[in-house]
Amino acid sequence: MNDLQRGEDAPNGVYTAKPQHLMLGAGIVGGLGAGLGMALAGYAFYLEPFNIDLDHLVVRVPHAQGRLPVGGLKILHLSDFHFQGKDERERDKIDRIRHITAGLEYDLLINTGDFLQYDNGLANVLALYDALPRPRIGSFAVMGNHDYATYNMRKAIPYTWRNFLARESRYRKARPMSMDMTRRERVERYLRFALYLFFRRVEGERTGRNDVARLHYELERMGTQWLHNRAIHLNGNSGVSGVDLYIAGIDDLNEGRPNLATALRPVPEDAPLILVSHNPDILESPAALRADLLLAGHTHGGQIVLPGFGPAHTQSDHLSRREAAGYFRRGKTHIYINRGLGEGIPLRFGAPPHVTLIEMRGG
Ligand SMILES: [Fe+2]
Repeated sequence: MNDLQRGEDAPNGVYTAKPQHLMLGAGIVGGLGAGLGMALAGYAFYLEPFNIDLDHLVVRVPHAQGRLPVGGLKILHLSDFHFQGKDERERDKIDRIRHITAGLEYDLLINTGDFLQYDNGLANVLALYDALPRPRIGSFAVMGNHDYATYNMRKAIPYTWRNFLARESRYRKARPMSMDMTRRERVERYLRFALYLFFRRVEGERTGRNDVARLHYELERMGTQWLHNRAIHLNGNSGVSGVDLYIAGIDDLNEGRPNLATALRPVPEDAPLILVSHNPDILESPAALRADLLLAGHTHGGQIVLPGFGPAHTQSDHLSRREAAGYFRRGKTHIYINRGLGEGIPLRFGAPPHVTLIEMRGG
């Protein structure tokens, strides 16, 4: 049947002619659409995850005048490697990091967590640290949720759907999905799920625990100090003259045992303070705004950022969609959300990975 097709609405086998050029046009449009979709998927899988840049940010903290090194405090901020031992992808990222940071002189290396997706990624985490120039003062880190737990992200949408349905029945007394639902009820339920995904984090199903003790041990051996609900006073003894400020860190909000009050207890009220948290939802705690600079990760910048729509998700219960990555400010607190280097689901579009050199200056 080439140029004659059975008309769907035609009575009893009446054949109606479909002009051949319309069928050809539909085929071309369909082919172009499929080709474009494959090209975008290829870009998101093979190219953008490796477009790693060294970004640069200057924050001015007049309050810290006279307590920073001459020329400012230089911080190399890394986040969210999500390494799992996939050498063909992770080695490319390590090589790129070695290239873009070669010869870099800086004071603090700060990592806002999610080093690992699975324990098998630890060797590449250490290889990446080995590829970095050494910081003048020291290396500091906090844990991310993925450093503690493993999740099945392939089932993230079905898992989130189950949680959504449980929430619907708990709070809306909505009945379970069933065949006798009207089309309108179904559409409303799916729209509410779309909004749920839009405003909440996508939840992977927890499948196990990573070897936290080994991660701690191996990175400590490379000179990293963990900031688990504690603050460290950086002063003249740190090896760089003119420094007099505090760096504090908080354990992961979802999988750790965060205690901001404990972390900030030793910090004098008037001392310049850098606060480090994997999850930017620490901003829900008013005490977090004591910090002059807050560094976080976790969002991956939304990972998929669609033109005219923005980030597909923020992985945050607190941030607005515009705050999924980059710099913004709350009161006196300069906030920087790093898009990270890696990803659990290996796709990025409009949210390329990066590392950031932050210069904290007094005036
Ligand atoms: Fe992450």
